[in-house]
Amino acid sequence: MDTEVLPGTAPADPLTMPAGEGWWRTAVIYQVYVRSFADGNGDGVGDLTGVRSRLPYLKSLGVDALWFTPWYRSPLADGGYDVQDYRQIDPRFGTLEEAELLIAEALALGIRTIVDIVPNHISDQHEWFQQALAAGPGSPERERFWFHRGRGEHGAGIPTNWVSSFQGETWSRTRNPDGTDGEWYLHLFTPEQPDLNWNHPDVRREHEDVLRFWFDRGVAGVRIDSAALPVKDPALPDLPPGTAPAVDHPHIDRDELHDIYRGWRAVADEYDGERVLVGEVWLDDAERFARYLRPGEMHTAFNFGFMTQPWSAQAMRDSITRTLAEHAPVGAPATWVLSNHDITRPVTRYGQADSSFAFERKRFGTATDAARGARRARAAALLVAALPGSLYIYQGDELGLPEVELPLDAIEDPMHFRSGGIDPGRDGCRVPLPWKGEAAPYGFGGAPWLPQPEDWGALTVEAQDADPDSTLNLYRAAIALRRRIGDLVGSDLEWLELGADVLAFRRGDGTLSVSNLGAVPVPLPAHHEVLLASAPLDGVLPPDSTAWLALRAVLPRSHPAPK
Ligand code: NOJ
Repeated sequence: MDTEVLPGTAPADPLTMPAGEGWWRTAVIYQVYVRSFADGNGDGVGDLTGVRSRLPYLKSLGVDALWFTPWYRSPLADGGYDVQDYRQIDPRFGTLEEAELLIAEALALGIRTIVDIVPNHISDQHEWFQQALAAGPGSPERERFWFHRGRGEHGAGIPTNWVSSFQGETWSRTRNPDGTDGEWYLHLFTPEQPDLNWNHPDVRREHEDVLRFWFDRGVAGVRIDSAALPVKDPALPDLPPGTAPAVDHPHIDRDELHDIYRGWRAVADEYDGERVLVGEVWLDDAERFARYLRPGEMHTAFNFGFMTQPWSAQAMRDSITRTLAEHAPVGAPATWVLSNHDITRPVTRYGQADSSFAFERKRFGTATDAARGARRARAAALLVAALPGSLYIYQGDELGLPEVELPLDAIEDPMHFRSGGIDPGRDGCRVPLPWKGEAAPYGFGGAPWLPQPEDWGALTVEAQDADPDSTLNLYRAAIALRRRIGDLVGSDLEWLELGADVLAFRRGDGTLSVSNLGAVPVPLPAHHEVLLASAPLDGVLPPDSTAWLALRAVLPRSHPAPK
């Protein structure tokens, strides 16, 4: 593949982080799914060479930080969330030296790096698990996991009735060296992802070492995978029939987790430049969620509540209000997330009759109005970019990529297989990015590991670069304005009442964001200047669009005319 040359980026000293000054409170963070971003060596799998070659693109987007989904050595049984060795880069993605270069080159462009840490489980190929299997029942090596005898006289019964986030069983049975059935081990996800025992001191020590390993290499933060799951009730009680308990759940949101994350925060605080902890915390209870964000714990956590809302002014407004209210008492900024590598792409989701998101509802062949979804995804992008807090962009959303319905034989995601083939899984949002040209691989590199659709020619970076009204240029303009307008930096938000289908709020004393989620155009409120809009305005705000309005002259006259 031809690569863009990095103009004059001598690798910075990776140990020198610029002073933070709360950078993470308002940062725009771009999620790189390495396997699908850009392929530098032509083998069809994205890699660090590819990412390095595209740093100028990320700079032009204006993002403050990159979050890399796991890039460590892994059998990729769950896309890398099955880590075999945290201190090595998977050979398909590159080398540790290249990761160090990437971190330094990004930092030289003013872009920080966040890596993914997966505390709940490791790969069954990790040396600890292999040692545990070899050492046998009762061994200290097995104490780092949840090995258990099965129920019943012959131990054939599964030890608990816990349910997997990936459907199917949460325990698998081992075989003894003599071929007889052995103990069971716990895995909340796939059998290739055995759960760690966080009551064991080695587990805690090792993770703090891993944090230091990456902080020493200049990363600015860690995203904590499945952060509410690692601690288990050692009594391994069954879940009661019916609804699972909201508190004292045997494996979700246990109080002991907070001490672990306080320990991680202490490690992060040993370093300069504000190294941050970002939690993947899926919890319905707002008060329990906010506990993870108390002073001395995580800096921020993903706000999935908003992400799952349907295209409804009332539902979204309620969610925004709830979000801000739950964060305020602990003094943490909210995060705004429209999607990630697990979630149906917004373009597809917002075009569906039921535009809310739930894992268990994903089905092949769900009808979507692609044009409407695309309009709404643009409007949603501006809406979230105007909210107080930090903003996450999943790679490809800035190009308006839709979810891809893949041929069955291309799917690799275990969620698909564990659903018995009913759920298409998550690969549809992981299709490699289109960079240029009219046909696959669209400048990605070699023949992509997941097939790209034939009609992505108009969605490439090259095509969108050239179009001032493209989704890519909308994202660039929004990120640039977010940085320039002081009103968008603070934590305040005041709702305006402009009708049941209109989501309108004021930031600071001079900037309005107005979204029309209804079916008919609405008048724009009085304003001095349109700063940016997701659709042509023509004096009114059309359905499925957002406009940013200035109430007074806030920008220098030289600012480019809004679209
Ligand atoms: C959440 C990650 O985002 C997802 O991709 C992964 O499968 C699970 N955690 C298990 O690690």
